[in-house]
Amino acid sequence: MPPDHRRVMRQFVTGVCVASTYVDQDSERRHDAVTVNSVTSLSLDPPLIALCLRHESRFLARIRSSARWAVSILSADHESIAEAFAQDQDKRAWAVKTMLGEPGPATGALIVKGPGWMECELDRSIAVGDHTMVIGEVRSTGVGDADSPLIFLEGRFRSLETVQS
Ligand SMILES: Cc1cc2nc3c(=O)[nH]c(=O)nc-3n(C[C@H](O)[C@H](O)[C@H](O)COP(=O)(O)O)c2cc1C
Repeated sequence: MPPDHRRVMRQFVTGVCVASTYVDQDSERRHDAVTVNSVTSLSLDPPLIALCLRHESRFLARIRSSARWAVSILSADHESIAEAFAQDQDKRAWAVKTMLGEPGPATGALIVKGPGWMECELDRSIAVGDHTMVIGEVRSTGVGDADSPLIFLEGRFRSLETVQS
């Protein structure tokens, strides 16, 4: 029997982030963002972080094109943002206009003010199995209020309070 990878990983607690990037087209900047929980810190010197996206992801194509992206760590209050940016690209379009914050100073990618955020320049991308690992060099960081983080466990959004209860 093949190992049930997905079932085991559902038991692994992660935070939840929104990754954002943009495409400049016809003198217009089109922002896009997706909900991700595959964000990890890779290196402190140089400062590198990674996230993993399906090879077919339209958002991945946009990161490759812009070579700039931001990651915002979501708080427990941001569950509706996490849900909105887990949808397909057409449904995300309205959410980009209404739910994201200001462009970051280093990259212009949109940032959600919450527990923390980072702006990155694309360092490299590596195809691994059915996903591509996107590695970014961190150019700018911010830390916000120490709000309770949004948590993903067993396929559901939680907060520290609901995990403990
Ligand atoms: C909690 C959560 C975490 C997710 N993490 C990832 C992720 O790390 N990588 C990924 O490719 N998709 C992830 N998704 C799915 C994306 O949010 C989104 O649905 C998908 O990338 C859209 O594909 P597209 O870029 O082709 O439009 C996650 C969804 C949820 C709800």
